[in-house]
Amino acid sequence: MSIKVIGTGSALPKKQVTNQDLEKLVETSDEWIRERTGISSRYISTGETLASLTADACERALENAGRRAEDIELLLVATCSPEREIPCVACQVQSAIGADCAAAYDLNAACSGFLFALNTAYAYVEAGIYQNALVAGGEVLSKIVDWTDRGTCILFGDGAGAVVVEKCEQGGVLGFVQHSDGARGDVLRCDSRALKNPYVDRPMETEFVLMDGRQVFAFAVRQVPAVIQEVLDQTGIKVEDVDLFVLHQANQRIIEGIAKKLKADLDRFPVNLDRVGNMSSAAIPVLLDELNRQGRLKPGMKLVLSGFGAGLTYGACVIEW
Ligand code: ACO
Repeated sequence: MSIKVIGTGSALPKKQVTNQDLEKLVETSDEWIRERTGISSRYISTGETLASLTADACERALENAGRRAEDIELLLVATCSPEREIPCVACQVQSAIGADCAAAYDLNAACSGFLFALNTAYAYVEAGIYQNALVAGGEVLSKIVDWTDRGTCILFGDGAGAVVVEKCEQGGVLGFVQHSDGARGDVLRCDSRALKNPYVDRPMETEFVLMDGRQVFAFAVRQVPAVIQEVLDQTGIKVEDVDLFVLHQANQRIIEGIAKKLKADLDRFPVNLDRVGNMSSAAIPVLLDELNRQGRLKPGMKLVLSGFGAGLTYGACVIEW
């Protein structure tokens, strides 16, 4: 028994911000950003909220799947940029789309979040607890990015993606692996509120994303090929049998490094980061939705999904579409 993706959806903010726009904000250049990252533009919220973007993506996924919101049993939202500490985004989305029967909650594994949420849905279905799930990844990272820091503000974008999954007897998710390395958590972090109560008042170090870009880069190029190989070994599938590698969209050079280590042609690594930047947990489901709507995903195709990011967290799964 497994789960099969039966519908996809995504939503991006209206405002597209180009590298040229960023040249007006920080000391950078379109050439530098494109050469070092592959990114040309990203979408930035000028009013869309994480809940509204994620709800739109979920509604599109339901429509694409031909399912009704009220039939969904589990609604998971992966995010690391909620507007509210409570209630969780998944409950706000549940209310917005009318998924009244679903158990709804959030999951934070940063850029691996969507993949970990998909694996969670798999485990529930495999255990016989639920028959279906709506799994989303959404971010409005623009509110936790320091717009004076050229090392990070050029990288990130806002958006949301979602999939509807259902129990299946054949195909679907063939296997997954997920790992965490909390000891290296400081290389990419964003603090929440400082401790402040009648007994203590500690100043906050920073409310923005802090990143050691080189460490993150090295981690991704080393661990992602290894975790992909691990899931391929688990499922008995060879690198050459994989039709598409749908990876977290962080940096074109990271994707090229991973392809090289796997000895796989780059044309099997679809990208949209040039247009949308790094959307953390939204990256994989948005790319999946774009591929689906372009008709590039055919029944029987073997896909590898792989996410990696803050935590540090990383993982991969194999899907027979
Ligand atoms: N424009 C122009 N110059 C810049 C910019 C910029 N936007 N940002 C940094 N620089 C400068 C630096 O100040 C430095 O100058 P110096 O040599 O005078 O000190 C120089 O460029 C080189 O800086 P590096 O940080 O060494 O540049 P690098 O080649 O490593 O590229 C980058 C930086 C793009 C951030 C790269 O390290 C990277 O992509 N790392 C991975 C980051 C990532 O993907 N993070 C997210 C993944 S996990 C997740 O998705 C949450």
